[in-house]
Amino acid sequence: MTQDIKKKNSAKAAFELIKPDLNKDSVLGIGTGSTTNYFIEALNESDIEIKGAVCSSISSEKNLNPSIKVIELNEVHSIDFYVDGADEFNDRFELIKGGGGALTREKILAYSSDKFLCIVDDSKHTDLLGKFPLPIEVLEIARSAISREMMKMGGKPVFRNDFITDNGNQIIDIHNLLIEVPFELEEKINNIPGVVENGIFSNRKADVIIKAKSEEVEVLEL
Ligand code: A5P
Repeated sequence: MTQDIKKKNSAKAAFELIKPDLNKDSVLGIGTGSTTNYFIEALNESDIEIKGAVCSSISSEKNLNPSIKVIELNEVHSIDFYVDGADEFNDRFELIKGGGGALTREKILAYSSDKFLCIVDDSKHTDLLGKFPLPIEVLEIARSAISREMMKMGGKPVFRNDFITDNGNQIIDIHNLLIEVPFELEEKINNIPGVVENGIFSNRKADVIIKAKSEEVEVLEL
């Protein structure tokens, strides 16, 4: 079974899981990436009526069927379910996100949600976060200064060429970081001036991991 089919299976399982709880007052949070696109596909194909969706990127907004209302986060009190992929996850449901560059909005939506369902295939599992380069969204003027700080922490910063986030900022991908205590590193990196956000999701981690394997889809809850 290909990784792509697993992504689709995970996304479909997430949709089936929350479907019974969706109604015309429901606000859905929708992330970004290829796995999430399969979730959008399932939503678009259904005839379910919801209040609307808050998306973590312009690209996800564009993929939504026009019958689904796009809502700004400022217009709602909270998000009932936030559904999004990840680049890595561990057994404590901590994540690395931001491979698609939407990490800042993703973290904001995750924080604003009552329930965060993370849709992944089994290849994303790791015991120690950091094999996937950690994305950091930065203000352009601070790029070199932040890169130097990350080198002091043992990482190898690589500037993401020709990429601007939906917020108008740049991304540095940090290779070779051993993220032993994700909670602490998340805070430490965010304390460097000029960092907009980093892709460690530990303060607000996933509530549910929906992991597709070759034979089945597992729904894991802490
Ligand atoms: C987007 O910025 C990311 O956080 C994605 O959620 C993550 O990169 C997973 O992407 P795929 O679903 O495409 O693997």
